[in-house]
Amino acid sequence: MSESLDYDILIIGSGAAGLSLALRIADMARVAVLSKTQLQECSTFYAQGGISAVLDADDSLEAHIEDTLDAGAGLCDPDIVRLVVSQGKDCIEWLLRQGVTFTEVESEDGGKHLHLTREGGHSHRRIVHAADATGKALETSLLARAKAHDHIDLFECHNAIDLITANKLNLSPQRVLGAYVLDRNRQKVKLFRARAVVLATGGAAKVYLYTSNPDTATGDGLAMAWRAGCRVANMEFMQFHPTCLYHPEARSFLISEALRGEGGKLLLPDGERFMHRFDPRQELAPRDIVARAIDHEIKRLGVDCLYLDISHKSPEFIKSHFPTIYERCLQYNIDITEQPIPVVPAAHYTCGGVITDSRARTDIPNLYAIGETACTGLHGANRMASNSLLECLVFAKQAADDLRRQLPALPSPPPLPPWDESQVTDSDEEVVVSHNWDEIRRFMWDYVGIVRTNKRLQRALRRTEMLKQEIAEYYGNFRVTSDLLELRNLIIAAELIVRSAMTRRESRGLHYTLDYPDPDNSKPAVDTILAPSLRSNS
Ligand code: FAD
Ligand code: SIN
Repeated sequence: MSESLDYDILIIGSGAAGLSLALRIADMARVAVLSKTQLQECSTFYAQGGISAVLDADDSLEAHIEDTLDAGAGLCDPDIVRLVVSQGKDCIEWLLRQGVTFTEVESEDGGKHLHLTREGGHSHRRIVHAADATGKALETSLLARAKAHDHIDLFECHNAIDLITANKLNLSPQRVLGAYVLDRNRQKVKLFRARAVVLATGGAAKVYLYTSNPDTATGDGLAMAWRAGCRVANMEFMQFHPTCLYHPEARSFLISEALRGEGGKLLLPDGERFMHRFDPRQELAPRDIVARAIDHEIKRLGVDCLYLDISHKSPEFIKSHFPTIYERCLQYNIDITEQPIPVVPAAHYTCGGVITDSRARTDIPNLYAIGETACTGLHGANRMASNSLLECLVFAKQAADDLRRQLPALPSPPPLPPWDESQVTDSDEEVVVSHNWDEIRRFMWDYVGIVRTNKRLQRALRRTEMLKQEIAEYYGNFRVTSDLLELRNLIIAAELIVRSAMTRRESRGLHYTLDYPDPDNSKPAVDTILAPSLRSNS
């Protein structure tokens, strides 16, 4: 019999999105927050550059909106962009009230104000940051608040397996009722019942061999929502960050775009600058352009990496603005005050995701999605730097406001069937799981990367179909482990990316294909929307 726990709200994910929602709603609800590994292990913790917000007197909401729309290449929802951008200042003030400390500078009157840095695509300085470790400052403060709250229970190493919906149990009307969750420490599956469930599980960049993301980013929320019957959108728009450290021992370490914002220059191996050949904004062009330019030069020259140089700035400036990057590079004998940094692009951000409305509601009643796992309409075909943490904070508030209105009328779920392990045994072939993990990540990198073609996408699709079958068979026969659960989700993320990329017969934003190298401006740009069959809950 599986252990059963009851909450008003089950939040799956303890990053910026999940924790800020928990803190905003816990005064009126009992909340469970799940994290599949350690509580702070998530993309939020590793965010470097900062959070975009219009705070400078020379800046304006209109300018932030225009920059976001421009980066999104015709696919942002203008109403959502306005909704998010206009809440930037309030969100920063809310974070300050939660105890987050940001970098400050002295004002002319002797007081202090928040320092604003710059990143690609932004026409003004508007990035609030905590040196180059903004995510750590945010995550640790929010986590401390959540731990201290009587109405919030935090569950570390609890891996959500699947949502439980009324449809799945042949009940009506359709709504979400809870989730099955693997307690990784006890290797037991628990049943969480809740009146509302929120997916805040982050992105899916681990589907690629090289990524800036932590291991948690396996598209679990996306896959759970898909299996439960939600539509997803714009999965072809996977963002590759232009500059990750290239070093055999450095696993997924990002070199913040803020380094370019503060004057860092991209160089070829012979020291020549090249970005002027690709965009007049040079190093501060939107990410899709910079990543493609680097990829192009790496392939043209047949080299392993290019270089990013900030050594023309004083050592004091570099060490105070980029202490984390300075220290980390020094561990690999790269002194960034004197030497250029070897860099390559890597998968960084999932612009597409579970479709939500402006209140973070998905297609299934009482099921919400917030943060990187959602597709709200903010990012369109390419997310602008530092708009992601802002989106997490704004949509956590939107969801909290909606839940505040809905919760009093939401009934408790009925008794739910326990997890059934009667048909499965322990695996005797774990090698299948690790082999399939590697295979997915490699073919996605090789065939569905920065530059695509029809032929490469067809190759990738054939592989996803074969692996999907193999993984389903494995899942049906063996007891679940966290690796198997992630693999089962990764193959769905891979398939959704490939199918979405095949659907888009043009190049736009982050989706670039040699077969259709230009945007199709003969008709209005539309989102790529994929819908599962409503009963595909296996
Ligand atoms: P995450 O912070 O990734 O949290 C996901 C949570 O879900 C984790 O707690 C995880 O354990 C949990 N989870 C996942 N699956 C399950 C499951 N099955 N069961 C239970 N729990 C689960 N954006 C900016 O705006 N500014 C920046 O400066 C910036 N820098 C970045 C630097 C790096 C290196 C990276 C990787 C990203 C950066 N981003 C930045 C992007 C931004 O950090 C993320 O988009 C954002 O933090 C996502 O927050 P989230 O709450 O949606 O997800
Ligand atoms: C960075 O610091 O370059 C990452 C910013 C982001 O992804 O928004």
